[in-house]
Amino acid sequence: MDSIRIRGGQTLRGKIHISGAKNASLPLLAASLLTDEPLALSNVPHLVDIVTMASLLGQLGVDIKLNGMPAAGRTGRRMELKASNVSNITAPYDLVRKMRASILVLGPLVARTGEARVSLPGGCAIGSRPVDLHMGALRKLGAEMELDSGYIHARAPHGLRGAEIVFPTVTVTGTENAMMAATLAKGETTIVNAAREPEVVDLAQCLVKMGAEIDGIGSDRLRITGKDKLRGAIHSIVPDRIEAGTFAMAAAITEGELELIGAKLEHLNSAAIVLNEAGVTITETSEGLLVKCAGILRGADIMTEPFPGFPTDLQAQMMALMSIASGASMITETIFENRFMHVPELRRMGANITIHNSSALVRGVPILRGAEVMATDLRASVSLALAGLAAKGDTIINRVYHLDRGYERLEEKLAACGADMERIKAAA
Ligand code: EPZ
Repeated sequence: MDSIRIRGGQTLRGKIHISGAKNASLPLLAASLLTDEPLALSNVPHLVDIVTMASLLGQLGVDIKLNGMPAAGRTGRRMELKASNVSNITAPYDLVRKMRASILVLGPLVARTGEARVSLPGGCAIGSRPVDLHMGALRKLGAEMELDSGYIHARAPHGLRGAEIVFPTVTVTGTENAMMAATLAKGETTIVNAAREPEVVDLAQCLVKMGAEIDGIGSDRLRITGKDKLRGAIHSIVPDRIEAGTFAMAAAITEGELELIGAKLEHLNSAAIVLNEAGVTITETSEGLLVKCAGILRGADIMTEPFPGFPTDLQAQMMALMSIASGASMITETIFENRFMHVPELRRMGANITIHNSSALVRGVPILRGAEVMATDLRASVSLALAGLAAKGDTIINRVYHLDRGYERLEEKLAACGADMERIKAAA
């Protein structure tokens, strides 16, 4: 397993091209199952999770053409997906366990073929992460849902029919599964308490290009009028707001200045507000966002919430930043039950963090010290990289495959802006 070595203390300056959003790419790839015509996606990030989703779709019978590695410093590849006929309706355990977002093929498969067998994803490091809301939504649309030997077996031999779906909890991929299925259901579907994340909006906009009829895009109430079939489309994937927020915090933690090309302020809103409170200035430029730390970092409190609240996917990164702020910060995680795995690792670097149930009290310290640390999940591992950038001495992050799932060439992008950072290949 590869590691990353970071020698802290460098100030980051320069421009970083923000890649297409991982969490928009995954549902968009799955949407190719909804039509027998080609879906052409551009600005596709080159990430392990995208490769995993593409191989799953390939097993289901989707023809995939991927071309063009981006020029150095640029991002985004073009992927064309064509599900002329879906030859297999099973998403196997060995793929789904690697990436729980594989659940996103459930809705499109049932809508297109009338059947799907998708392995239960199982939990992951940040929580049990059930899929009961996904199953309930499809049941509402008329699918017979059964669980047998670890698989969800969904059947709708006479097709799906529109319904009212009320989500008791905001669920991002649950909303995406229900919305994709509803585009081919007979009649009208309303989704109440729908997720409003920019990635959900991006998927909805692509579905409309494919001929779907969706009202209320961007709101928590979606109305979908089903169609007999969808057509192909061409769509460019929205920039990754979590990557942008991560790099904004990299600029702040090194007291540097980064221009994030392609980043959109309206997608970072709550995080930008909190960062401003902490003393980080974020201004819009013609190409994206300019981020710099205007002097002393101050402690700021955050509570993670569904969009437009502070994103849970930036919680770990914010904790790393607050570890060296002056004053204290209270960080409360309300979305997942176990998303503080980065805390013991940050403590090993000298951070002063106390956990009380779902809140962490962070008391800023003057300096962190490099250490050997372990990555546990995607966002926890990048928070350790941020801490390493600011720490005195060397930090070695092990198990960086977690990082590769969600960040495209992280060490290259940061090294190009002055970070002393390199990947250490594991002995073959
Ligand atoms: C999406 O996961 C993202 N993944 C996650 O990003 C992100 O952290 C999360 O949304 C919250 O924003 C993708 O989009 C691929 P949820 P998702 O359903 O959809 C509970 C990353 O780092 N719930 O919105 O799986 C659930 O346990 C990843 O990029 C149920 O109880 O999250 C959680 O407490 C990590 N039953 C809450 O809802 C269900 O059927 C929100 O989860 C579904 C969810």
